[in-house]
Amino acid sequence: GSLQYGYSLGVINAPQKVIEKHYALSLGVWSERSALPENITEGESPPEEQKHPSVVMYWSLSVAIFSIGGMVSSFLVGFIGDYKGRVKGMLMVNILAVVAGLLMGLSRMWKPHIMVITGRAIMGFYCGLTSGLVPMYIGEIAPKAYRGALGTLHQLAIVIGILLSQVIGLDFVLGNDEMWHVLLGLSGAPAILQTVLLPLCPESPRYLYILLGKEQEARKSKSQHRQTQAQLTILSSVYRQQLFVALMMHLSQQLSGVNAIFYYSTAIFTQAGVSQPVYATIGVGVINTVFTLVSVALVDRAGRRTLTLVGLGGMCCCAVAMTVGLKFQNDYSWMSYVSMAAIFMFVSFFEVGPGPIPWFIVAELFSQGPRPAAIALAGCCNWTSNFIYVHCAVNYLTSCPTIKHRLRFQHMFFCFPHQAWMDCYVFILFAVLLLCFTIFIYFRVPETKGKTFEEIAAVFQKKKRIPKDNAELEQLKSSSDA
Ligand code: GLC
Repeated sequence: GSLQYGYSLGVINAPQKVIEKHYALSLGVWSERSALPENITEGESPPEEQKHPSVVMYWSLSVAIFSIGGMVSSFLVGFIGDYKGRVKGMLMVNILAVVAGLLMGLSRMWKPHIMVITGRAIMGFYCGLTSGLVPMYIGEIAPKAYRGALGTLHQLAIVIGILLSQVIGLDFVLGNDEMWHVLLGLSGAPAILQTVLLPLCPESPRYLYILLGKEQEARKSKSQHRQTQAQLTILSSVYRQQLFVALMMHLSQQLSGVNAIFYYSTAIFTQAGVSQPVYATIGVGVINTVFTLVSVALVDRAGRRTLTLVGLGGMCCCAVAMTVGLKFQNDYSWMSYVSMAAIFMFVSFFEVGPGPIPWFIVAELFSQGPRPAAIALAGCCNWTSNFIYVHCAVNYLTSCPTIKHRLRFQHMFFCFPHQAWMDCYVFILFAVLLLCFTIFIYFRVPETKGKTFEEIAAVFQKKKRIPKDNAELEQLKSSSDA
């Protein structure tokens, strides 16, 4: 599930020009607008300003609809996880990935823009579900001592998916005129494998015991706990602190700005004068994978809190280094190496903590009853902030006139077209944001390493107790409704 998520995130970047050409052909605008003007060679796409507006629109939609699908479906994680169970839920939603893969794989047979956009929407919907169901299942089946390492495997599969899509998206592999539809269609292939393998996996015992009440003793000992939790909504004040921490963890992951690097790395490296920018992008993918492995090895020893603090703090320093690199890039040519190194280190620090940890820490912060709803809310926050940040903010800002003429490092995150004085210092804003998240984590996030779910919940409930009786419960419910 997670591999497909990563693959779908990465797959759309490399073959952009080829796919746009097929959209233009099918829309009948290829010959009139872009029949290879003098400066364009065969197989190339015209520059942005010469592209037909419909092609630009359908392309943007193909990219963005994936996140919209995820935003919508991430809300349903709790419902599917509780109604069907974790394993059956994951099994059931695989049908979506297969349908999406087929639509994209067969897109050359009919209008490619319609087929790809529909396929990407369904795939986004699938990934929204999977990005909640997978960490929830892993969190519930993992032994306490390995919960961090196993939870990080979700992110490891995501980054392997991204890397895989970058490698097989190379133009001499599948990212070409003949094979691009196969490249997109392959997004659904792991679902077939998963459908065969998932039935061999046991259902989450916590789900069976506590939610379905299949085990006599579990039902007895947890009944009070369960009744209370089921009746309280996730928005009740009892869970407010945990929820706040969960949402902030996801916000820090997305607003760290790492996805701007994944989406624009090829353009950035081109601008920096790298002769084979695609390989530099793959280099980012490799670093990404290596440091996620480092996180797998460390997370149960160093702890979630420490790794998140180190990661966010390190990213903050890299943002400062990028500012220095930009400020002096005209004075010293070697300063561009400082910026490049800062980009690689930025990604490395991300994968050590802020990348993998938010995904699984939500499952740890909540006990059985509110967990699915909490994961759904946190997932929705992740997908929404990703959408707003990458597709609205970065797209809007990178289409500002300044960047069209001279794409520079600082523009990949932010640009202030009317405030040129901000140019060099813009990464300082990022550094400040990262610093704020670091301070928040330092003061508000407890360590969850080696603790049972109940022990973790108790840390929060020191201040906000779970109500003891029905009268107290009613009182809480009415105050939370109010
Ligand atoms: C995390 C983020 C995702 C990002 C990926 C990069 O999974 O949620 O948005 O693309 O890391 O490795």
